[in-house]
Amino acid sequence: MRVLGIESSCDETGIAIYCQDKGLIANALFSQILAHQAYGGVVPELASRDHVRKIIPLLEEALTQANCQLADIDAIAYTAGPGLIGALLVGASFAKSLAFSLEIPAIAVHHLEAHLLAAQMENPAIQFPFLALLVSGGHTQLIWAKQLGDYELLGETIDDAAGEAFDKTAKIMGIPYPGGKALSELADEQAFQQSGLKPFPRPLLNRPDFNFSFSGLKTHCLYAYERSIQDDSAKKAIAYAFQTAVVETLVEKCRRAVVHTGATQLVVAGGVAANQTLRTQLHSIACDVYFPSLAFCTDNGAMIAYTGMQYLQQHQIDTDIAIQVKARWPLVKT
Ligand code: KG4
Ligand code: ZN
Repeated sequence: MRVLGIESSCDETGIAIYCQDKGLIANALFSQILAHQAYGGVVPELASRDHVRKIIPLLEEALTQANCQLADIDAIAYTAGPGLIGALLVGASFAKSLAFSLEIPAIAVHHLEAHLLAAQMENPAIQFPFLALLVSGGHTQLIWAKQLGDYELLGETIDDAAGEAFDKTAKIMGIPYPGGKALSELADEQAFQQSGLKPFPRPLLNRPDFNFSFSGLKTHCLYAYERSIQDDSAKKAIAYAFQTAVVETLVEKCRRAVVHTGATQLVVAGGVAANQTLRTQLHSIACDVYFPSLAFCTDNGAMIAYTGMQYLQQHQIDTDIAIQVKARWPLVKT
């Protein structure tokens, strides 16, 4: 069986094909970052229009990579939310119409669940139940993943997401959107030691719960930057102090959550899972820690195709012909 996966929730158009026997056989992606950079963030209408432009060429690219035709596809999975409503509608309309015309099932996929399962796609040793740290541009959550579709929220950010804080701190220092990755590459321990800066606060570590808060840390960076001489070494020092504070906070809360749940596996997901310092430091935790490869940390069609395959195997498919997407859609049922 082969599942075509379509991701269009934000500023990446991703189309991939996951095969039950061979695994991932195609993965085509187009990132719109350059189109949005001039505006300092994602412009929803531009994103929707670009998905419209790229979706068919990417489908053709994916079919070529997999050396197959539309007739060889058994189901079409698409991101049904959460995300930008117009962008989601492009992928959902395309996926459902194509599935209807091919007379094959369509499968609505939750974007965050797909992020959580991205590591499992590459590493079948990951088995439910597991502890998951979801760190993306829009979310920072600690989740007890019980089984497919069944997730318990242990804690989450009460303000900015980790990726959002990385991007906003980068912006404060004049690094173009989305500056998270560039900020982490700037971080330099030697510059920090020479700067005379004190370590930045580790937010909410004094509280026993699993919640996070990153907006104060971002403001702390703003003040530190305004007081500095704003040259390269000041940026490197602040980037280091900021990144160390975020990573140490995430790692310590994960350590406590492992003890609380008795988890033997910790799965890290979302764009910030690409952060090298986080990847290195999480290995100090007393359980098996899994990360997706860098290409599958940020948005992609492969995680949608893989998650769609899991639901197809359980015969959970869209039965309604209506095209429905959700801008807001909690992963955890309350
Ligand atoms: O999961 P994702 O692609 O999009 C959302 O669904 O939000 O995550 C994007 C986020 C951005 O905030 C980006 O700056 C951040 O992940 N990011 C990083 C790194 N690479 C991407 N943050 C810190 N260090 C990185 N290396
Ligand atoms: Zn995402």
